[in-house]
Amino acid sequence: MRIAIASDHGGYELKRQLLERLQDPDFEWSDFGCATEDAVDYPDYAEVVALRVASGEFDRGILLCGTGLGMCIVANKVPGIRAVTVHDAFSAQATREHNDSNILTMGGRVIDANAAETIARIWLSTPFMGGRHERRLEKIRRVEAHVQELAEEAGLQT
Ligand code: RB5
Repeated sequence: MRIAIASDHGGYELKRQLLERLQDPDFEWSDFGCATEDAVDYPDYAEVVALRVASGEFDRGILLCGTGLGMCIVANKVPGIRAVTVHDAFSAQATREHNDSNILTMGGRVIDANAAETIARIWLSTPFMGGRHERRLEKIRRVEAHVQELAEEAGLQT
């Protein structure tokens, strides 16, 4: 599995620890920065990873910032990305089974490296269930592709 990873300064230390802990033969990591704890802007890093996952260059992405939230907001602007912020094991499994999420975001100021490793391992190894969930993903793609028409139909401006 090819995995793109990036962080801002708030997630840098957690990224460093995760990369140390998740050196399994099944995982091929590419680190897109940042490389120190100097302050940077999370959208720059989320954009790079999200575009590369959406293009198919990488199978999955992991983004780490202080909360996981800013990274998630940005990544979900890229069509084809289903990014999720996860800080518990149940959600890590459920979001893979139900949402086929392709980017995981976590907060370095929210959880420690032990919890993040557990969550990442579950998220990386759990397959999508398909079936009824595929229909729901189709509906996500419909919103993504037709947001302008859907807003017009509803009499809204975007
Ligand atoms: C940086 O201070 C912080 O805002 C960032 O890491 C992240 O938590 C944003 O959502």
